[in-house]
Amino acid sequence: MKHLLSCSILSADFARLGEETASVIAAGVDRVHFDVMDNHYVPNLTIGPMVLRSLRDYGITAPIEVHLMVSPVDGIIPEFASAGASIIAFHPETSANINKALTLIKKHDCQAGLVLNPDTPFDKIKSVISHLDVIVLMSVSPGFGGQSFIPTTLFKIRQLRKLINSMGYNNIDLEVDGGVNVNNISAIATAGADILVIGSAIFSQSKNNYKQVINSLRAELSKDPIH
Ligand code: DX5
Ligand code: ZN
Repeated sequence: MKHLLSCSILSADFARLGEETASVIAAGVDRVHFDVMDNHYVPNLTIGPMVLRSLRDYGITAPIEVHLMVSPVDGIIPEFASAGASIIAFHPETSANINKALTLIKKHDCQAGLVLNPDTPFDKIKSVISHLDVIVLMSVSPGFGGQSFIPTTLFKIRQLRKLINSMGYNNIDLEVDGGVNVNNISAIATAGADILVIGSAIFSQSKNNYKQVINSLRAELSKDPIH
């Protein structure tokens, strides 16, 4: 499978969010990663369905994956779906009924995912794996952009890939979220990641360098012999 680059707009210039989102898409990312934080599940407060809707009204047509760091998550799922989400992923700890929440996402014609924190055990996904399109492994503690990649994630990716393949779900995408950059992206891909979330590694550059950093990320990915 071709690797996908998903750009987290958490580190974008929020005063020009539409323009920034359009720029990174034009510079070559495959999708937008929309981090929603409620200052309850994580100690930060970010953006909601209205902002997602404005990005769609601004003309963003690329897939937008909504990463919900919100608890409880169930009630807000339909709002993000109708605001224009393509994929909705949430943390299992934030729903009283994971199965029901995943079914609700699918009912609203979005792809569904679960997000595992660095210390969340895999057994959270086993009973609901048939509902999953993507599993996101956090490689930082959720809440902020610009953190350093946790190296033990590489081991977790390999373990998780083995587990879901042994259960017959080879088509589930593995996504890694947090601290991904040009120095570690090749190792992360070789460990088995299909989708890489990139935030500050792109937005720490000046706007006219977005394409250059995205091309360097892609060059590093092409070194991964498996995919
Ligand atoms: C952190 C978010 C991540 C983060 C990624 O809680 O879920 O998506 O914004 O940004 P970087 O690439 O800067 O770690
Ligand atoms: Zn995220």
